[in-house]
This record gives sequence, C-alpha cells and structure tokens, in this order.
Amino acid sequence: MGIRTRLTEELGITVPILSAPMGFVAGGKLAAAVTAAGGLGVIGGGYGDADWLDREFAAAGNARVGCGFITWSLAEQPELLAHVLAHEPAVLMLSFGDPSPFAQAIRAARSQLICQVQTIAHTRAALACGADIIVAQGSEAGGHGAMRATLTLVPEVADLLARESPATLLVAAGGIADGRGLAASLMLGADGVMLGSRLWATPECLIHPNHQRAALDSDGDGTIRQTAADIARGYEWPEEFTGRVLRTSFVISWHGREAEHRAAAEAARPAYLAAVAQGRTEASGVFVGEAIGLMRGVSPVAEIIARMTEEAEVLLRERGPALVT
Ligand SMILES: Cc1cc2nc3c(=O)[nH]c(=O)nc-3n(C[C@H](O)[C@H](O)[C@H](O)COP(=O)(O)O)c2cc1C
Repeated sequence: MGIRTRLTEELGITVPILSAPMGFVAGGKLAAAVTAAGGLGVIGGGYGDADWLDREFAAAGNARVGCGFITWSLAEQPELLAHVLAHEPAVLMLSFGDPSPFAQAIRAARSQLICQVQTIAHTRAALACGADIIVAQGSEAGGHGAMRATLTLVPEVADLLARESPATLLVAAGGIADGRGLAASLMLGADGVMLGSRLWATPECLIHPNHQRAALDSDGDGTIRQTAADIARGYEWPEEFTGRVLRTSFVISWHGREAEHRAAAEAARPAYLAAVAQGRTEASGVFVGEAIGLMRGVSPVAEIIARMTEEAEVLLRERGPALVT
C-alpha cells in the first residue's frame, strides 16, 4: 500500500502531504511531526521574527523541514531570508506577493522554491521566477487567500503547467481535510496536497485549545473572509487578499465597518492581543478554514496523516473501479 507521486519522489517523502506554513502556530514541533509521519513539515515564518524562527527550527530538532514566509512582509525585512536559509530548510515557500526578488538566493541555497498562488496570473509570475513547486490555494482555505475555489483553480493550473512547464510540481490547498480531499486533488491533477486547518486542530499546533474547541463545535458555514482581524493586529495586507476566520462576535461586530475599526484599532490592540493569547475566542479573530466542517476532533498529527492516506488509498483503489461500468 502507498501513494507514490512526483512529489513523493522529488522530495523523498512517503506520503504526498505538506503542512502549511501557518504563521505563529505552525512551529517546529508540528513540522517535525509531519515529517516523521512521512510528509514534509513547513514552519510558519509568517511576518518574520528571527528569534521565533531560531527557536522553532531548534524545536524541530534534526527533522528535515521547510519554512514559509509571507512575501510582502519578507520584502520589508529581506535580511531574514539569509537567516532562515542558514538553517538549511528543505523547501522555502513564498506566499502573497512578488517572489522574484528572493528566488535566486533560495535556489543558490539549494532549497526547493515553493510559491503559493491564488490565480492564474500568480502562477505565471511563479513560473517566471523558476518555482519548483506551485501550491494552488483555493478560497476555502483557512488564513489569507483570495477568491478562486480549489475545484477549478487546481485543474486550471495543472493544465497550464502541462502546457508550459511540465517539470513543475503542483500541490493543492484549501479545504482538504480527509482522504476524499487527497484522492480528489490527485484526480484534479495535483501531485500532492498542503494541509493547514486539519493540522491546526492537533496537540502539536501552537494554538489555544479554546480556539480549537470553538472551531470543532462549529461547521463549514462558521467561517468568513474578512479584514477585521488584520486591522485589529495592525497588519496592512494588499487588497486582493482577505483572511478566513471563525465568525466570532468580534469579527461580525466589525466586518463591514472597516474605516471605523481602523480608527479604533490601535487603542484596542493590547486588549485584543490578550484575548487571542488567552483563548477568549468570541473576542478574537481565529484564522481557520471551511475544512472545520470535516473535522471531528483534535488528534495527533501522525494519526491524521495515517488515516487520511489510508482513506485516500481505499478510494483510489476501490471507488474508481467500482464506478466504471
Ligand atoms: C491558522 C492559519 C494560518 C496561516 N498562515 C499562513 C501564513 O502565514 N503563510 C502562508 O503562506 N499561508 C498561511 N495559511 C494558509 C495556508 O498556507 C494554506 O493555504 C491553507 O491552510 C490551506 O487550506 P486549509 O486551511 O483548508 O487546509 C494559514 C492558514 C491557517 C489555517
């Protein structure tokens, strides 16, 4: 049994699963657990903090892991790239912004360059700077993203790669949380998947258990794309991206009142950040995706990856042939 794809071959892994570089919450322990389970773990470098990154690479121990950055934020402190490349990450992932200023340094360090894209235009930009792997992220995803859905974006990107850059690998992201999502992504033309929300609900993730419980008590209708959580934290995201979060009282009270919120946010910031850290979910913006509707509980990374792979194997082996007359 096993699922072998170009991604498993290229990265030397045994299951075609990468973990998402979820800012602040995907630390070294989570990344190392994903690698130990046969995939490849990616530390969430997020907005970039050298001390946090050093600590989390140390927490990953000797495990082979990668790291991801929010590209527009990295552009504001580009020296962080060399800092992280010194840790010899297996892959360096860039999302949300122009990857071209960083591509050469990543290649020179012999890290594979992964670009996460949300549109066909982003895909072309990633190919132009020589991305080894494209992650096509649909709007179902937790955290930041854009408007295209996984179901059409992934095969459209697969077609583009087949025509123009057949050696580039494709990974699907956004709404994938079980064996059905993995099997379907492979059918859409992806070489593997990237999991965020599903691995967020694990003990290895650096997130308050109250937030996990609230997400699991909700369903797939319980999230929304918005900007309130970024205004509250003081991050100025490019307009094309919004963040998918739980529909908490905090988010719903500010959504649609952005100008008013901007005026009030600075004074309220310490209280807001304390609410998030202390697990007061209804007073927080909690980044997570529609996949919460497919998740039953908090489980260890190893269990999630083993179950998901097993489910996908059964589907690919049995359901396909059973449907064809
Ligand atoms: C809590 C959370 C934080 C995230 N932070 C980042 C980030 O800092 N950088 C990034 O490239 N993607 C980030 N993402 C998006 C993921 O890379 C990925 O596209 C997404 O999780 C996939 O969809 P899923 O959540 O349905 O699995 C985040 C996602 C979540 C859930």
